[in-house]
Amino acid sequence: MLVASNRGPVSYQLGEDGVLHARRGGGGLVSGLSAIGSDAGSVWVCAALGDGDRAAVRRADGGLLPEGDTGGQRVRMLDVDATVHAEAYNGIANSVLWFVHHMLYQTPLEPVFDAEFRRQWASYEAYNRAFAEALAEEAAEGAAVLIQDYHLALAPRMLRQLRPDLRIGHFSHTPWAPPDYFRLLPDDIAAELLGGILGADRAAFLTRRWADAFTDCCHAVLGPGIPSGTEIGVHGLGADADFLRRRAHEPDVDERMAALRAEIGPDRKTIVRVDRTELSKNIVRGLLAYEQLLADRPEWREKVVHVAFAYPSRQDLAVYREYTAEVQRVAAEINERYGTPGWTPVVLHVKDDFARSLAAYRLADVALVNPIRDGMNLVAKEVPVVSDQGCALVLSREAGAYEELGEDAFVVNPYDIAGTARALHEALTLPAAERAERSKRLAAAATALPPARWFLDQLNALTGQPASS
Ligand code: G6P
Repeated sequence: MLVASNRGPVSYQLGEDGVLHARRGGGGLVSGLSAIGSDAGSVWVCAALGDGDRAAVRRADGGLLPEGDTGGQRVRMLDVDATVHAEAYNGIANSVLWFVHHMLYQTPLEPVFDAEFRRQWASYEAYNRAFAEALAEEAAEGAAVLIQDYHLALAPRMLRQLRPDLRIGHFSHTPWAPPDYFRLLPDDIAAELLGGILGADRAAFLTRRWADAFTDCCHAVLGPGIPSGTEIGVHGLGADADFLRRRAHEPDVDERMAALRAEIGPDRKTIVRVDRTELSKNIVRGLLAYEQLLADRPEWREKVVHVAFAYPSRQDLAVYREYTAEVQRVAAEINERYGTPGWTPVVLHVKDDFARSLAAYRLADVALVNPIRDGMNLVAKEVPVVSDQGCALVLSREAGAYEELGEDAFVVNPYDIAGTARALHEALTLPAAERAERSKRLAAAATALPPARWFLDQLNALTGQPASS
């Protein structure tokens, strides 16, 4: 069985001493796919993402990374030409496809489909072809291949042409755009993307809503009657309760809790958010809603702290760098306007630290998850599982997690800053007993489909095995 994704389970940094340091990655995709395990027939194909990775590939034995670095998994990292990768990943996948599926274009961030776009599109095709060829080479007769995400939308059809014997699955970790928005892509590109995924035997999504949007796009762009040979599936990805509960009680998390408590100050409520610094996560409107809460309800001043972790992401792209700066600027303005000698209203951290994220989860009274659009959002699922006292959840109705958690959350329209401020107030004032009850129900719903189960269900559905129970 094979898995293919842009980002693999491990990345390499080249130290000043010339030594390569391997680092295991986190996140939903990696933890879900790690269930591929280490049996001899499984290979994970991913791309080299930086100089460290490229050096590792050059040293790799027959293209496979040393198993000591990968936790025993067989990982083949592709050294795709650096320009091709940058154009496919930064240019097409993250600047265009990400923006389409998350519906992020708005003035002055407009889509540009010019000659540069066409050149980048050729790189996106070449990048997908590199994966299809590597998969065709690795796969045994009749093997199952699970191709992941918007980076690799063309690879299923390319692989099908090379190897008609394979069972091919594609999984989208993002939302899927509705037809009216998807069709802002040039017609031939829209058709290529859909046709690429329809090359799979099975195209799966995190929620019914995204699956339906994909089918609607097929009808709108390709005409009725499509998709024909492709089965459409839905597999929600849940939090890994066992891992999170164990990891959240390790000594480094306790240390981070003590440090965070000192930053927050005594007897204060906490509103926690943890995100990649990502336009779709809507961090700035979250900060503005918090500011509105402080303005409308002075009784919360000095009584609450917004703990916001916004970790760097896709910093090669100017819009991401600018967004990072805006998050920092707005947080600083709130602290300037409302802070007092003993109280910092916003505690913002931008350096990625998983142990500190877990510490914040444990301390959370309220979790704020307000994305403009999100395939699932695992933070919404993780905080109720880990929080010490049980937390209230303020949740965007545009996150995939809303389908499973909406009933016990304070649901917001992510654009509605005043509405989000009101929801924060309601969440903060939820009586302790009800909060604990709701948090328990949220945690149960959040962990119903742990990553290993999510992975196996996909695989079984693709190969025709009965679903796990
Ligand atoms: C989204 C995508 C994932 C990706 C993640 C991080 O969740 O669906 O495939 O791994 O973002 O993005 P990055 O560009 O850092 O890999």
